[in-house]
Amino acid sequence: MRITLRQLQTFETLVRKKSFSLTAQEMCVTQPTVSKQIKALQEEIGLALVEQIGKKVFLTEAGELLYSTCKNWLKNWDEFEQTLANMKGMTAGRLRIATVTTTKYFLPKLIGQFCQHYPGVDVRLEILNRERVMDRLEKNEDDVYIMGVPPENTDIHSTPFLANSLLMIAPLNHPLANRKAIQLSDVIHEPFILREPGSGTRLQIEKLFADHNQKPSIRLEMGSNEAIKQAVAGGLGLSILSSSTLIHEQKNNELAILDVEGFPIERHWYWVQHKDKTLPIIAKTFYEFLVDNIEQFKV
Ligand code: PGA
Repeated sequence: MRITLRQLQTFETLVRKKSFSLTAQEMCVTQPTVSKQIKALQEEIGLALVEQIGKKVFLTEAGELLYSTCKNWLKNWDEFEQTLANMKGMTAGRLRIATVTTTKYFLPKLIGQFCQHYPGVDVRLEILNRERVMDRLEKNEDDVYIMGVPPENTDIHSTPFLANSLLMIAPLNHPLANRKAIQLSDVIHEPFILREPGSGTRLQIEKLFADHNQKPSIRLEMGSNEAIKQAVAGGLGLSILSSSTLIHEQKNNELAILDVEGFPIERHWYWVQHKDKTLPIIAKTFYEFLVDNIEQFKV
């Protein structure tokens, strides 16, 4: 059979992701390319490997057999490639990063800059909310994790690299917008628009309110920081967001930062990794690049 490594890698990714579009995303190719690779693989094998029901992809019996045959072999091959990259030095290799939603304001740009310096590097970036990043961390699916609330686990090493304060925001025309030294009790009954449960931002907000024996009155929950900013600007309520979400905000924007007691809540972005994991050498290069270039994203 003339099966290629690329076809097997595409198949393995498809089994993990269960979706053609997510596979294309992870492999940095288009969806038709993924379909073509799978089709060619099926033709070579002579049996259907996957079946698609709605948007979900399921394995056929032949698919199960192929997956169990090639899974460990591909992992070994991956390690071989990584060792080769390490032997070639600090400028090539693959780096898997999983990061929380809110880092989208700086991390993809920083990775873009990094890849321009090191074109031999293949970065796989997963952007999810904290709960899902934690899940990947537990399953050891990536090399490095970037998040605002690292786990308190002794097997994990976390290094802060950028301020990530939480700010309370309101529409510009809100009665509290120009007040100084607002008490928490003055805002506690305001309607809030908050990130979804499972988000790191939400976790911190719940802790803040719980520390004051309070619960926020939530008018709306959303998974997108940008949508929340728009809803606040539109007058739906107040919110608490990471200062990183304001990196690209103009001075004359439609949002006011409220001067509430205890705010801003000082926090950081953390570089998180398993203590005992041997990272690819390129991870060290990326960490140094991150520290040297993060200044541009300070708010
Ligand atoms: P989130 O995490 O994007 O999941 O809310 C942000 C943070 O922890 O600061």
